[in-house]
Amino acid sequence: MAPKASILCTIALVFIFLPLTGSIQFKFPAIFNFGDSNSDTGELVGAGIASLEPPYGRSYFGTPAGRYCDGRLIIDFLMDAMDLPFLNAYLDSIGTPSFRKGCNFAAAGSTIEPPTAHAVSPFSFRVQVAHFVRFKARVLRLLAKGKKLDKYLPAEDYFRNGLYMFDIGQNDLAGAFYSKTFDQVLALIPLILTEFETGIKTLYDQGARNFWVHNTGPLGCLAQNIAKFGTDPSSLDELRCVSKHNQAAKAFNLQLHALCKKLQGQYTDSNFTYVDIYTIKSDLIANYSKFGFEQPVMVCCGYGGPPLNYDSRIGCGKTKVLNGTTMTAKACDDSSEYVNWDGIHYSEAANQYVSSQILTGKYSDPPFSDKMPFLLDLKF
Ligand SMILES: *[C@@H]1O[C@H](CO)[C@@H](O)[C@H](O)[C@H]1NC(C)=O
Ligand SMILES: *[C@@H]1O[C@H](CO)[C@@H](O)[C@H](O)[C@H]1NC(C)=O
Ligand SMILES: *[C@@H]1O[C@H](CO)[C@@H](O)[C@H](O)[C@H]1NC(C)=O
Repeated sequence: MAPKASILCTIALVFIFLPLTGSIQFKFPAIFNFGDSNSDTGELVGAGIASLEPPYGRSYFGTPAGRYCDGRLIIDFLMDAMDLPFLNAYLDSIGTPSFRKGCNFAAAGSTIEPPTAHAVSPFSFRVQVAHFVRFKARVLRLLAKGKKLDKYLPAEDYFRNGLYMFDIGQNDLAGAFYSKTFDQVLALIPLILTEFETGIKTLYDQGARNFWVHNTGPLGCLAQNIAKFGTDPSSLDELRCVSKHNQAAKAFNLQLHALCKKLQGQYTDSNFTYVDIYTIKSDLIANYSKFGFEQPVMVCCGYGGPPLNYDSRIGCGKTKVLNGTTMTAKACDDSSEYVNWDGIHYSEAANQYVSSQILTGKYSDPPFSDKMPFLLDLKF
């Protein structure tokens, strides 16, 4: 009798301690996502601005799938966890994509601030939000015309009940370091976040009520930044990442967190969830072997060999003539041993690990329960 009683007791306690207010409920009819390459599922490639060649996509899709990864991104794992299909990119018009369960406006290389003259992506946050506004207006007009398009388009109430996700800001910081001092980069952060706030307000005015904001990762740990800014050992921190870059990322995250709190206070009919990606990724890089990885920083698909296997002149999968010799940036045999795929982007294995940590609910503010029903059928 005693064991049974204690099981019942435990179950009761679990229910008592479930947070009852303020935390996110994982039942969304649709997802609308905004961001950069961390969550681009085909936007920049769909726009014809960039192309990806094999071995991109090799670990999951078998072919480059518009993603800067060997396989799935965090957003793909989160969609899966919510029992929703992978998000189609707004500009990926070929192959009759369905936008029924949402739309992805994120584009690789995008910044929150308006693009500079050398920007990879013209789709800064403001433009992504403008794409959404046009998307919504067109959907509502088409729905009003009849029912034939129902299975391709979100229903009207999905815009209010959907989840709006954000993962952007990394390129604002990374880009600024090429032309600015550390203090100038820090001074830029409030301006970047003012622009972010403007976009969030536009979405709120459009009816968005559920917001999910990823903070930015330890960008000083990316081989691209170590190769360029980390040649002097005194510029590296205890993880052997570029110290100033990580300090800037932390400063950005503190202010982004404060902004989320402020918006939550202002918009009492909404939910803001802030997700601490930085802590998850830096833990992964510091303690990689504990999580089954062999290389925390060295790139799987690159050129140049250890310690970084990264050369900014030859991107993953590309071939170039250097000093009269033809060189190709090839992939390692087993990308699941590497945290980093191409020097800028994480491997699918790392994305899967990060997603599993997000879904514990422990890295969010407010935290959400790890007893959510959707966790029972995780398809990792
Ligand atoms: C915000 O979350 C609470 C608690 O989960 C929920 O009751 C409420 O409906 C949510 N608000 C919106 C606008 O979805
Ligand atoms: C690495 O793991 C140790 C032990 O769990 C932990 O204390 C430390 O914070 C981790 N490092 C990072 C950077 O998260
Ligand atoms: C190309 O040649 C230059 C000058 O000899 C040398 O400094 C550089 O390291 C060489 N690059 C490669 C990729 O071998």
